[in-house]
Amino acid sequence: MKFFLDTVDIDAITALLETGLIEGVTTNPTLIAQSRRPQHEVVRDICALVSGPVSAEVIATECEEMLKEAHDLAHIASNVVIKLPMTFEGLKACHRLHQEGIPVNATLCFSPLQALLAGRAGAMYVSPFMGRIDDCGQDGQAFLESIRDVYDNDPTIETQILAASVRNPKHVLEAAYAGADIVTLSPTVFRALCTHPLTDKGLEQFLKDWHSAQ
Ligand code: G3P
Repeated sequence: MKFFLDTVDIDAITALLETGLIEGVTTNPTLIAQSRRPQHEVVRDICALVSGPVSAEVIATECEEMLKEAHDLAHIASNVVIKLPMTFEGLKACHRLHQEGIPVNATLCFSPLQALLAGRAGAMYVSPFMGRIDDCGQDGQAFLESIRDVYDNDPTIETQILAASVRNPKHVLEAAYAGADIVTLSPTVFRALCTHPLTDKGLEQFLKDWHSAQ
């Protein structure tokens, strides 16, 4: 399972790229709004940092307007991936962009049937929001597993499952168990993956014992 960062924080991306584990970035309108910067500038700066796919979401809700925005976004850099909401209009736009060879990340996915449609429409990625499913009292891991089953049953589907709306390390583990291809997560959650109190305690004791013997 690959790791993408779900952020527009340039400094955080720069720092975590040093792990060699970050293979892409996802953004969304909320993250862009929080940056207080124009979307094109944010996406341009991230694409200059990251060689892997960088998802940028359209704001339009009608297909033709989505396509106009998508073409503008795609011109920013060769690694831009267009994020489209899993609506009927988004599905039509996904089909059109796939025909044009422009990669799509089908986002705001909350059902296996939406994921199936995205796969058949040629999306490169589908973003099931497992955290928001959990927030509703449903089972995020089971949701991802059902998408995995649907995709594995259709050899024509090459869409990658990009687990999103990841709130904590447990979600990352559940995404891995479910067979997600990619997980996108905040820098905070990514850093939490490596942290364990027994590791810290063990290292402290090793160093204490070592230095006491010098
Ligand atoms: O960016 C897509 C997704 O990761 C958003 O997650 O935390 O807003 O549910 P969240």
